[in-house]
Amino acid sequence: MNEEKLKVIKEELDYNMEVHKCLLCHNATCNKAYKNIEPERIIRAIKLDNEKGARSLINDNCFEKEESNTCPLNIDIDFILKKLLEKEEVKDLDVDISTDICGVKLENPFILSSSIVGSTYDQIKRAFDQGWAGVSVKTISMMNIEESSPRLSALKDYDESFIGFKNIEQLSEYTVEENMKMIKRLKEEYPSKVIIASIMGRDIEEWGYLAREVTKAGADLIELNFSCPNMKHKGTGSAIGQTPILVEKFTKAVKDNTNLPVLAKMTPNITDMCVPAISAKQGGADGISAINTIKSITGINNLVPEPDVNGKSSLGGYSGKAVKPIALRFIGEMANNPELKDISLSGIGGIYTWKDAVEFMLLGCSSVQLTTAVLEYGYRVVDDLILGLKIYMKENNYNKVSDFVGLSKSNLINNDLLDKDTIEFPRFNYDKCIGCGRCFISCMDGGHSAIKFDENRRPILDPTKCVGCHLCKLVCPIKAISKSPNRIRKQDSK
Ligand SMILES: Cc1cc2nc3c(=O)[nH]c(=O)nc-3n(C[C@H](O)[C@H](O)[C@H](O)COP(=O)(O)O)c2cc1C
Repeated sequence: MNEEKLKVIKEELDYNMEVHKCLLCHNATCNKAYKNIEPERIIRAIKLDNEKGARSLINDNCFEKEESNTCPLNIDIDFILKKLLEKEEVKDLDVDISTDICGVKLENPFILSSSIVGSTYDQIKRAFDQGWAGVSVKTISMMNIEESSPRLSALKDYDESFIGFKNIEQLSEYTVEENMKMIKRLKEEYPSKVIIASIMGRDIEEWGYLAREVTKAGADLIELNFSCPNMKHKGTGSAIGQTPILVEKFTKAVKDNTNLPVLAKMTPNITDMCVPAISAKQGGADGISAINTIKSITGINNLVPEPDVNGKSSLGGYSGKAVKPIALRFIGEMANNPELKDISLSGIGGIYTWKDAVEFMLLGCSSVQLTTAVLEYGYRVVDDLILGLKIYMKENNYNKVSDFVGLSKSNLINNDLLDKDTIEFPRFNYDKCIGCGRCFISCMDGGHSAIKFDENRRPILDPTKCVGCHLCKLVCPIKAISKSPNRIRKQDSK
């Protein structure tokens, strides 16, 4: 293999390894070592799929130091900066990222979803100060909430980051009065931030009472928790979301007791979310937020499912990166349902990066909500949600958020309507290929045995066997396989 080519590939791999080694420390020591930049902030941007944003934060003077780098893992920060400086710079990010949720103005689309990340005055104040446009506060109820310990577990990747996250937690442990005091104070101090009061009742009277209380306290919207999968009280949470008649009844009970816009938060523990969503609309809901968590078991240790609560466990709600495809599916289906036309959609589920958020927005969500990313990395993830969104809009010439909300909706169609007459063959880039043969193994054993591996360690495609499934492209570790520019008619390919 050509030495120069190997050097380039190795450098790119080293760059990724150095970036992924970074722990994103609190009050990072590297930030003190560098004079003009905060390396933690820059590496965080790269890790959160915002390399262009990272590039916009540095220039040629980024290497100057106050003291020697004391990174506990001795990460080669200068090397990361050097590689980053080689990338193209994006300038002039003056774009309007304001949007709305059920007609209520948001300074940006990013809201903390109802959970522990929005439980107390101090937390929410900090989140607002860091740039979050709104919060759906931890669900308020009149129930006596008792929780177990531990109440969280996670599926992890090789670098200890969360793939998926399970919780067996219920609702706010604070009283209605304490929550009302918090909402009132936050609204007085942050009039332009959006406060969504998430509520859950056990009957019509409780739903009505809570709606009146949060309206009096000054909330901007109400979110109806029809979706917590962990409730001790029978017939609450996701049990309501699975019973369309109750969804309509309780939505109406709330609408009868408030003049605020109302969002119904849906459970994914159901086959067709459109059914309860339509019921919510019939009850008067102005918007749908989705998804809440998916019933799950993350693993079993010493005979006990996780998390082990004194030798026993229960099913619990799954969230985080792993649930994004499922959340997008539900949003896509609701966005394309004519009976839900014009309802406001707020997307939730596995959003970590600006790109995840944009995907929900392209399917029709005007706002998005996050929890697990904040549990893992803190409120600071909002920095790259905002910066990344600005760069995306600038590069695509969108002047306002509504220019791209819903643009992908019509590209989601039934499988039977997809083109089955043409093939998109993979194309091997031999300048990049390092001859690892991963594409060959996968195609032989898991594809259509359409790749030969020649004596020079090069994959060669047999178009008479290839069905264009793209498994080879997906397994290639160095992105040396792309798609052919033209689709070929199946009948011409053999
Ligand atoms: C620990 C934890 C507590 C949660 N508590 C609530 C809650 O009180 N009310 C609610 O509507 N959703 C609750 N959720 C669900 C989240 O708001 C969100 O719908 C879900 O986690 C998916 O988003 P994510 O992947 O960004 O976390 C909770 C989630 C977690 C992880």
